[in-house]
Amino acid sequence: MSDRGRFGRMGFILAAVGSAIGLGNIWKFPYITYANEGGSFVLVYLIAIVLIGAPIMFAELIIGRRTQQSPYGAFAELGKQALGGKAWSAVGGLGVFTGFVLLSYYAVIAGWTVYYFGRCLTWSLQGYDVQNAPLGEMFGGFLANGALQITFLAIFLGVTTGVVLLGVKSGIERVTKTLMPILGVVLVLLAINSIRAPGFGDAMRFLFHIGPIDADGFLEAVGHSFFTLSLGMGAMITYGSYVSKKQSIPGSTFLICLFDTLIALIACVIMFSIIFSIPEAERATTFGRSSTMLFTTLPSMFYALPLGGLLSPVFYLLVAFAALTSTIGLLEVAVSYFIDARGWTRKKATLFCGAAIFALGVPSALSLGASNGLSSFNPFGSLATGVLDTFDYTVSNWFLPVGGLLTAVFVGWMLKPELLRDELEEGHGTFKAFGLWLFLLRFVGPVAILWILWAVIGGRSFA
Ligand code: PFF
Repeated sequence: MSDRGRFGRMGFILAAVGSAIGLGNIWKFPYITYANEGGSFVLVYLIAIVLIGAPIMFAELIIGRRTQQSPYGAFAELGKQALGGKAWSAVGGLGVFTGFVLLSYYAVIAGWTVYYFGRCLTWSLQGYDVQNAPLGEMFGGFLANGALQITFLAIFLGVTTGVVLLGVKSGIERVTKTLMPILGVVLVLLAINSIRAPGFGDAMRFLFHIGPIDADGFLEAVGHSFFTLSLGMGAMITYGSYVSKKQSIPGSTFLICLFDTLIALIACVIMFSIIFSIPEAERATTFGRSSTMLFTTLPSMFYALPLGGLLSPVFYLLVAFAALTSTIGLLEVAVSYFIDARGWTRKKATLFCGAAIFALGVPSALSLGASNGLSSFNPFGSLATGVLDTFDYTVSNWFLPVGGLLTAVFVGWMLKPELLRDELEEGHGTFKAFGLWLFLLRFVGPVAILWILWAVIGGRSFA
């Protein structure tokens, strides 16, 4: 285990917060909130974070810190004492595999934020020039340009690989410690600035009114709580394995969930204040409830705002930072497997994983219009079209929920409660809510996830 590393106290919190905060908060959460009519959806999401996400995060951090190993080794070691034995290591293996697939397409989307940063910078310097060429068309053209897609994928993975290559302390910890405070402060400033937007009041009403919510919206909120907290694939097991025994797991979990949720809500305030500033009729016809809201709706609106020319490149740079601290976490899951279980050096593991993930990302990058075959690839029929969509469908609907379910069952039912209490209280002191936590982990989480899987088997898609 020579090439392992260790986080400092704040380093761990910021790295884990960095892994949690990403495209899921700034790209996905606002559009699914918009599509699900805000209000109640946000409330269900908050409840899911507390009752389902946080307890599973405890579980992941416990097994990571207890074993000081990445997911595969962690499940293998603790599995020895459990029913089912070493077979549990397959859950760790699933996590590593999920990390590969998720990062391969996540980095494609992350690459778009870098492209938009460059675009916005040029518009700011030269004048905003897309009045004659609508953003939707420009975005479509960009997606269908295979060379550009691959270039930005390579840039994003290149930077991610560079950081992970430097190691836990001098790479991951240093970069996340620098980027996360900048991200937090600038997003708060952008949110304060949006109070001046005419749509601010409507945006707040939309976000916090309580209205009806259907079963699909409910399940989507629960499913998203997994994605946004980086759960179900061993990312928190991996980061937990670099945490000192002096650190409190409940305290850390509280901070990670709090910051992740705050940033998701702040992203909504910023985006909705802009969107609700245009008249309703126009909004309804021009801006569908589309997953591309961040890339087609937002830029033009930024330029209509005071200081928009300054704000828009800053905003896209921040989204790129948020995505980077997540791709770092994803790559580390795969890298730590090769270091721990195969005895590779960090350098060999990182270069190999970076290259393999890039190769896996190329079909996704070409599946947005550049290649007809890859763009119409649809093994799940109408549920997902194209390689990128298919990967996202599989990861979000199957791999993460199944990984989360098995983690909850393993920790909740297979490990001895004394071991769990011992690890939770190490660095924390007496943990009064132990019984409540175990109840949530044993019953509430698994039932909610089984419900999601049941809906997915029935043909629903929550990607
Ligand atoms: N939590 C990230 C987001 O919300 O964008 C996505 C993610 C990152 C999932 C890292 C899993 C992970 F290991």
